[in-house]
Amino acid sequence: MTECNNCSKYFKGFKRVDINELLSNSSYNGDIGLRWKRTKGVMDDILSRYKDPKIVDLAVGGGEDAMFLIKKGYDVVGNDKDDYLSSVAREKARKNGYSLRINNEDWVNILDSENYDDNEFDFAYILGNSFPNYLFDKEDREKALKGFLRILKPKGVLFFDTRNFDYMLDNKEFILEDPENNFRYDGTCTYLKSEDYRCFPTAIEDQSIHWCSKNYSTSRYGCLDLWPATEGRVRDDIETVLGGKVYVETFYDYGKERPDHYDFIQYKITKV
Ligand SMILES: C[S@@+](CC[C@H](N)C(=O)[O-])C[C@H]1O[C@@H](n2cnc3c(N)ncnc32)[C@H](O)[C@@H]1O
Repeated sequence: MTECNNCSKYFKGFKRVDINELLSNSSYNGDIGLRWKRTKGVMDDILSRYKDPKIVDLAVGGGEDAMFLIKKGYDVVGNDKDDYLSSVAREKARKNGYSLRINNEDWVNILDSENYDDNEFDFAYILGNSFPNYLFDKEDREKALKGFLRILKPKGVLFFDTRNFDYMLDNKEFILEDPENNFRYDGTCTYLKSEDYRCFPTAIEDQSIHWCSKNYSTSRYGCLDLWPATEGRVRDDIETVLGGKVYVETFYDYGKERPDHYDFIQYKITKV
């Protein structure tokens, strides 16, 4: 587990567990149908461009998004480097009468991985604030991006979302006065606000954010460190390695216009 930067004061009486245990809890994911509805047509528009699209969920986690698409008849492969979450996702598929192929490839190894062919997928997505903020090393992020592009067909789409790290860095002092209450999270987008959960940063540095999830119904919490993937930094990584090879669009809580506040930013990257 990531070392905690003295944040136990926010979790008195709560038990610390691995963050992946919290992420695999179904109350964390909420109503998955509503979550996809709140993509405001962006996902439907991508999926409608392809006949029988081949899809990869590159951070399959507990498998909620992959299962949602599989139940709709889509051909989805999963990927996740975490064995525990992969087994949760496989079991979820099995219970629903499906089998789900999951590769346990680290994103940085997809570029050279025999598990993936060149030009294999129409749509590759990574949802839930995973890439690129799990990778602190610029070289790793760039290698991962190259790998993602390799496995996409021409005109294929890579799609990922991140939390609004610009908001966190810009409002550091106010948030840290009382993170649990001051961190603004509207929860009206795809990651629904829940009575059971609250997520917030307890340390905010230019190159690292200590991120915590608190489950009030089970009295458990989990933390990890994230690379603050601001919009400018992510665009810079994309431009460095994929410039000229892709077309990039951004959405703010799935809207085209950037509002004063948004919880998440989405990147839609089309291979030209
Ligand atoms: C925040 S979870 C999101 C899971 C799921 N997409 C969701 O929305 O619930 C991040 C996921 O990314 C996976 N992950 C993190 N770093 C990875 C890497 N370098 N390669 C592959 N998977 C990675 C984690 O194991 C975890 O399942």
